[in-house]
Amino acid sequence: MPYVIGANCIDVTDRACLDVCPVDAIYVGERKSYINVNECIDCGACEPECPVDAIFVDRKARDDAFVADSIAFFSETLPGRAAPLGDPGGAATVGEVGVDTPLVAGFTGP
Ligand code: F3S
Ligand code: F3S
Repeated sequence: MPYVIGANCIDVTDRACLDVCPVDAIYVGERKSYINVNECIDCGACEPECPVDAIFVDRKARDDAFVADSIAFFSETLPGRAAPLGDPGGAATVGEVGVDTPLVAGFTGP
């Protein structure tokens, strides 16, 4: 997994990262956005765009809970949905998802 969005995005969701992603691999939940591991091509363009430094490379923080949580957002069935998102092939195909993983939905601070 290459780039990951961490806790700093929660309740900020600035969306500047969305504008620079060449493959539309960043999906907006409710409180946070999530990068699709299978669709991200590891270009690095999003990382410097985030005003709250929420984006990081996974190999520098493998134990960060948001690495696994970013996978779960796509592989697990989110609240109110009938099936996992999977790999839609671009965020524009699904629009803003509007829900979060249980970790993010219940997040109250580090
Ligand atoms: Fe991935 Fe970010 Fe580029 S999500 S494809 S590293 S803009
Ligand atoms: Fe979140 Fe930063 Fe993107 S706040 S939506 S990761 S620009």
